[in-house]
Amino acid sequence: MPDHSTPNDQRRTAWSRYWKRDVLHSLPGSFTGNYEGLIGRFWQQQFESLDASRSVLDIATGNGAIPQLVCLACSTDMPRVDAIDLAEVSPDWLASQPLPCREALHFHAGVSAEALPFADESFDLATSQYGIEYCDVARAVPELARVLKPGGHLALLLHHRDSRLAEVAREELRLTDWLLQAAGFLDRLDAIVPWVAQAASAEGRERLRVDPAANRAREDFNHAMQALAGEAAASPFPDLLEEARAFSAQALGALQGASAADILSRCRDYRESLRDARLRYAELCECAMDEDMMASFAERLAANGLADIIHVPIRHENGMLMGWTLTARA
Ligand SMILES: C[S@@+](CC[C@H](N)C(=O)[O-])C[C@H]1O[C@@H](n2cnc3c(N)ncnc32)[C@H](O)[C@@H]1O
Repeated sequence: MPDHSTPNDQRRTAWSRYWKRDVLHSLPGSFTGNYEGLIGRFWQQQFESLDASRSVLDIATGNGAIPQLVCLACSTDMPRVDAIDLAEVSPDWLASQPLPCREALHFHAGVSAEALPFADESFDLATSQYGIEYCDVARAVPELARVLKPGGHLALLLHHRDSRLAEVAREELRLTDWLLQAAGFLDRLDAIVPWVAQAASAEGRERLRVDPAANRAREDFNHAMQALAGEAAASPFPDLLEEARAFSAQALGALQGASAADILSRCRDYRESLRDARLRYAELCECAMDEDMMASFAERLAANGLADIIHVPIRHENGMLMGWTLTARA
């Protein structure tokens, strides 16, 4: 589980910026639309007994991928759905939904799973996909147990330590650190920007030719580019490095029409997005559960009164391990 030494406001800011990007979930590389295939089917099964008399809580909802699946499954007989997240979330897709869905769905931004603003025994079903394991489960599980009605159901899809997602996150965490390191690729890019800006004029180009500092910056940047190509060739998941290469080409190319200050500001934004991504990868790596973590999570649920706890690995249609499903009853 994440060690929660990262202050909640830093985590909230990083996730809030992510959800503003008009993404439905955090796996756009794995699912073009909503969760589909075997994962979509798992959720459909959980929603089979829902109707307008029922109530659902989705924990750590992000941009509401799971509530959207409830809308699809129960379009004519929508249960009330409360969806909470620590981050600032307000998904755009909701506005284009049919009225019953819009009326039934309630997003609660800035709400932590460790302090749910709901009365005891409020919900028939609590759900979370790649969500509750990001929370402080010692505090979130009692809260979840408190708000479930007696006989209510819990359905979770959780990160698995051996999943492809966790494997990619571990590598992307390493590559993010590589890009951000001192005197690394991004520092070298920053250093070359003012010199490339000068090269726009003949006079500037002449200054560059004779200036040792300009030559040093150029050599350093060329070495950094070679190192990046080497890292990319050696990495099983080099997408971040390809993006960094494309970003640098685009940033330096844009110096034809923009000032060095503008481009350096874009470089700062890019660094910030990488730091946010680093936080997300690090949290995924920490919260992804092996067998032992899963067993102690199940024990914690049992200690808080949940019964019939079943957890099994779930795979993509192509056989790729995607996580654990867990179902239980209050
Ligand atoms: C990987 S995303 C999953 C979002 C969504 N369930 C989905 O499937 O797309 C993890 C989410 O957990 C949220 N989160 C992390 N810690 C939380 C907490 N303590 N309380 C509520 N939400 C939290 C983050 O803000 C983020 O939106």
